[in-house]
Amino acid sequence: MSIQLGDVAPDFKASTTQGDISFHDWIGDGWAVLFSHPKDFTPVCTTELGEVARLKEDFLSRNAKVIGLSVDDLKSHQAWEGDIKDATGQNVNFPMIADPDRVVAELYGMIHPNASTTMTVRSVFVIDPSKRIRLSITYPASTGRNFEEILRTLDSLQLTDQYLVSTPVNWQEGDDVIVAPALSDEEATNRFPKGFKTIKPYLRMTPQPNR
Ligand code: BEZ
Repeated sequence: MSIQLGDVAPDFKASTTQGDISFHDWIGDGWAVLFSHPKDFTPVCTTELGEVARLKEDFLSRNAKVIGLSVDDLKSHQAWEGDIKDATGQNVNFPMIADPDRVVAELYGMIHPNASTTMTVRSVFVIDPSKRIRLSITYPASTGRNFEEILRTLDSLQLTDQYLVSTPVNWQEGDDVIVAPALSDEEATNRFPKGFKTIKPYLRMTPQPNR
């Protein structure tokens, strides 16, 4: 069965461009974003890795580390880093897992044989400090991901872990959020001193509580 939200992220040992790791130890006490790309020296992947490098500080400011993976070997990853720098101007400043034997790719269900038997799809797993899978998305090889969206989901996950709220469609940091339907109006008044607006009894909006 595939990995599902709420599952403990499978632990593994691997070689990466920044040394050997034990995944859970590498995650430490923070959040992690594990993402696969189909193949080294390919165009969409080159743009993605440059973008993740550009956004690394934005991930770190959310207490999140990023780590990439493909089923290529370490030598290939290391050689490709030069091309990524040439093409995008970015030094690859995060580890890339070398998984030529597909151990991690299989563990995380990153190979979808009806899409490709030789490459991973574009998987993303967001893992919380208790090592649970909190978000998973899958894109095909032909479609580059939007890593600003992964930052947005981290903002939502971290906010909704802290307050009894959820985030509406297209929510961005600073926008109003939804009061948990389980709260009575009286409880919501106590919890959200900035007040709330009732659009429907089950849809009440309040300013982002930690702003
Ligand atoms: C790419 O990154 O451009 C790519 C990789 C594998 C298959 C197709 C496209």
